[in-house]
Amino acid sequence: MPHLKGLILSGGRGTRLRPITHTSAKQLVPVANQPVLFYGIRSMVEAGITEIGIILNPETGGEIREVAGDGSQFGAQITYIDQVSPDGLAHAVLTAEPFLGDSSFVMYLGDNLLQGGISELVQQFEEHAPDAMILLQPVDDPTAYGVAELEDGRVARLVEKPKEPKSDLALVGVYLFTKRILEAAKAIEPSPRGELEITDAIQWQVDQGDRVEPHVVHGWWKDTGKLADMLEANRLILETIERRVDGDVDEHSQVEGRVIIEPGARIVRSVVRGPVVIGRDAVVEDSYVGPYSAIAADAVVERSEVEHSILLERAKLIGLEGRIESSLLGRDVIVRRGERTPRAYRFMVGDNSEIEIL
Ligand code: G1P
Repeated sequence: MPHLKGLILSGGRGTRLRPITHTSAKQLVPVANQPVLFYGIRSMVEAGITEIGIILNPETGGEIREVAGDGSQFGAQITYIDQVSPDGLAHAVLTAEPFLGDSSFVMYLGDNLLQGGISELVQQFEEHAPDAMILLQPVDDPTAYGVAELEDGRVARLVEKPKEPKSDLALVGVYLFTKRILEAAKAIEPSPRGELEITDAIQWQVDQGDRVEPHVVHGWWKDTGKLADMLEANRLILETIERRVDGDVDEHSQVEGRVIIEPGARIVRSVVRGPVVIGRDAVVEDSYVGPYSAIAADAVVERSEVEHSILLERAKLIGLEGRIESSLLGRDVIVRRGERTPRAYRFMVGDNSEIEIL
């Protein structure tokens, strides 16, 4: 089989992660201080796939190009492909036709995270040489996903976000395709929501008698499209880190367990209880940073407590009484105690923000 290429889809609008995605692509939201997209790129490179195409929404794609660059930081060559209108995943594949040529490829949805990477799956795909391979995992709410029905271990039917799912097997956002998927994508019609669905294209292959191999994934899988999933992905990745303290910890602080403190970060009179990552030049002072927190570069936590949360670059928590939990704070966000009278809540909050107070 000729060498596999990689196709990462990063064009989605990320409406479920607003307001963060008003100003940034959802694939750049960090998990354990690394853009979620990087995990997909790295897992491809680990599987020996270095020719990678990334599909972008031209509106948010600029920042992705800047951050991922030509791919050399990952040992890959990245080609960027603009998907001018968001007309579905199968439409994205068609947009990539000039890049894909006749190659088989791994398609990876840029907001998905898969424990254990994709090396074994690629190996299996090359050994069994099916016409397509799909990954499945049982989920609690199949209505939010593409759903597969299997009969005698074969794929019988695939339905995108069914109202009444016939199985609990969700389609994981990682697919292995031959060039046949291009033919399928050309043959199907847009779905009721107006998109060329990849699920329908694979169903077309099933209907044509193609061999579509199902593979049930046993390690964890996360689609990070929503806040709760993002926090859960952050937790799962932080579980795997190893302790490394390169920043400054003063003698009045305690740093417990698996904690990464990047160079230039300062921990002053504080308790940091891992697993936690604290980015470059961040400051934690007179504070508590608890398990499953990812504090990005240049963020500040002062006289506050935070746990199970993600703070993006330069976010600041200052002088809070209650503990912040299960929160995602965007770049340059400030949450602080006001000193003015009358004592009152004062907000300046962007579109689609959510605030929950005691
Ligand atoms: C997409 C696919 C869906 C799949 C899911 C996995 O949905 O359409 O079939 O199960 O990704 O992440 P989306 O998350 O884009 O709505």
